[in-house]
Amino acid sequence: MFKQLLIALFGASMAFGVAAAEVVSDMHTDMSGCETCHADGMPSDDGAHEAASCLDCHGGLTDMGTPHPEHDGMLECTDCHNVHEDEVGQAPATCDNCH
Ligand code: HEC
Ligand code: HEC
Ligand code: HEC
Ligand code: HEC
Repeated sequence: MFKQLLIALFGASMAFGVAAAEVVSDMHTDMSGCETCHADGMPSDDGAHEAASCLDCHGGLTDMGTPHPEHDGMLECTDCHNVHEDEVGQAPATCDNCH
């Protein structure tokens, strides 16, 4: 009984720890592997396939809430979202990086 409780608590804390530290790319890799964004799982030279993949699933900048529509026709998703570094649930770039 006590052992089961310890295991449950350990499991819960692990799950919490992993969720807090998970980066955006890992969360997407859980969907369909690296192929979720990379053709054959390999980064492209020009990033075009990756950029198109974002749009396939999320739609364009005008399909999302602020600060997205403000940058339609000016920026790509990866200008603000560093998917291999940003943690899930964290706002990516501060506005004053550019403004
Ligand atoms: C959410 C989409 C996404 C997923 C899933 C993803 N990546 Fe990426 N990856 C990118 C983007 C976009 C870049 C371009 C650099 C950047 O903006 O972070 C990149 C860059 C890279 C680079 C660096 C390339 C360079 O020239 O610097 C490597 C290596 C890489 N990814 C490997 C992987 C591997 C291996 C996986 C699976 C474990 C994976 N990626 C999953 C989107 C993704
Ligand atoms: C100008 C910088 C910028 C660009 C460009 C940008 N984002 Fe964001 N994005 C943000 C910020 C800042 C947040 C956090 C907003 C918040 O917490 O209210 C965010 C949040 C999100 C979220 C989570 C919240 C939501 O609205 O669903 C998703 C998904 C997202 N962005 C996808 C994208 C995609 C896909 C693209 C490209 C089509 C993109 N973003 C381009 C800055 C940007
Ligand atoms: C296979 C479909 C798919 C692709 C491709 C994809 N996404 Fe996502 N993405 C999702 C889903 C599903 C979620 C979770 C629900 C949501 O927040 O919209 C998500 C969540 C996100 C979030 C929110 C993460 C958080 O903090 O909660 C961001 C930011 C994001 N995606 C950016 C991107 C970017 C940038 C790309 C391209 C490099 C991309 N996505 C490619 C399906 C996809
Ligand atoms: C990667 C650089 C970058 C980031 C980060 C960024 N912006 Fe922008 N933003 C631009 C560029 C480039 C333009 C178009 C040129 C201009 O008007 O400054 C623009 C235009 C805008 C505009 C419309 C034009 C204007 O000045 O009225 C608004 C509003 C705006 N951004 C708000 C934000 C907010 C809010 C954030 C943070 C959530 C943000 N931006 C983050 C680069 C960025």
